[in-house]
Amino acid sequence: MLTTLFNHRSIRKYKNTPISETDLHEILEAGTRASTTGNMQLYSIIVTRDEEMKKNLAPTHFNQPMVMQAPVLLTFCADINRFNKWCNNRNAEPGYDNFLWFTNAAIDAMLVAQNCCIAAESKGLGICYLGTTTYTADKMIDILKLPKGVIPITAVVIGHPDHNPGLTDRLPLKAVVHYETYKDYSNEDINKLYADKEALESTKQLLIENKKETLAQIFTDNRYKKSDNIHFSTVFFKVLKDQGFFNQ
Ligand SMILES: Cc1cc2nc3c(=O)[nH]c(=O)nc-3n(C[C@H](O)[C@H](O)[C@H](O)COP(=O)(O)O)c2cc1C
Repeated sequence: MLTTLFNHRSIRKYKNTPISETDLHEILEAGTRASTTGNMQLYSIIVTRDEEMKKNLAPTHFNQPMVMQAPVLLTFCADINRFNKWCNNRNAEPGYDNFLWFTNAAIDAMLVAQNCCIAAESKGLGICYLGTTTYTADKMIDILKLPKGVIPITAVVIGHPDHNPGLTDRLPLKAVVHYETYKDYSNEDINKLYADKEALESTKQLLIENKKETLAQIFTDNRYKKSDNIHFSTVFFKVLKDQGFFNQ
């Protein structure tokens, strides 16, 4: 298990080899062993293997090539719809159409997603998350026919790797772990904690390619710009309302 975890790196090129039914079934079963809020399993997983469905979904993932390459695309959704129906059919009044329960369902969806990823990786398969899911959730809802109470949270491609990238860097443990209480960061701490990342050869290359002065500017000005964030946030906020998570 630890070897699998320590060898994780996202795979962005896939062979054209299918995943066996047995492997997919086991990955999904392992996924559903994840902890969930009150064991309510407030998620649904949509499995996409059909080429036409992948073609429909590809633009919602900004045409990232792995969507068409990988044999399996899993979309993990926060889902209060199924639980609400159970409650309503059992003379129980559900109170889950609010932001708190969107958050709880989103947490459940992410945990099952990560369990599936680890299960897939432990079988030698590659995975990559697709954060584009929250950007275009409105369009995915139509394509995947998601009813009210269901919102896509993340998607993952799974398949046989067709490249072998190295591990990506991480901040040192002391940058992200606080013992007992949070210790806020001084400017000096920030300088030290980000020094190794900033000194990487790959960072230097990125600065040249992006014509930027600092790595942080590549995030704020190019990759995750404020104007884009505000746009996609507005869209996602509307999705939450339309899907019935803000009824009170
Ligand atoms: C929620 C989430 C969304 C992500 N979205 C994308 C994506 O849309 N495209 C992509 O190529 N990688 C995506 N990634 C992968 C990250 O870029 C990757 O995990 C990070 O750079 C660390 O690299 P590693 O996974 O190889 O260790 C995403 C990861 C997460 C957790």
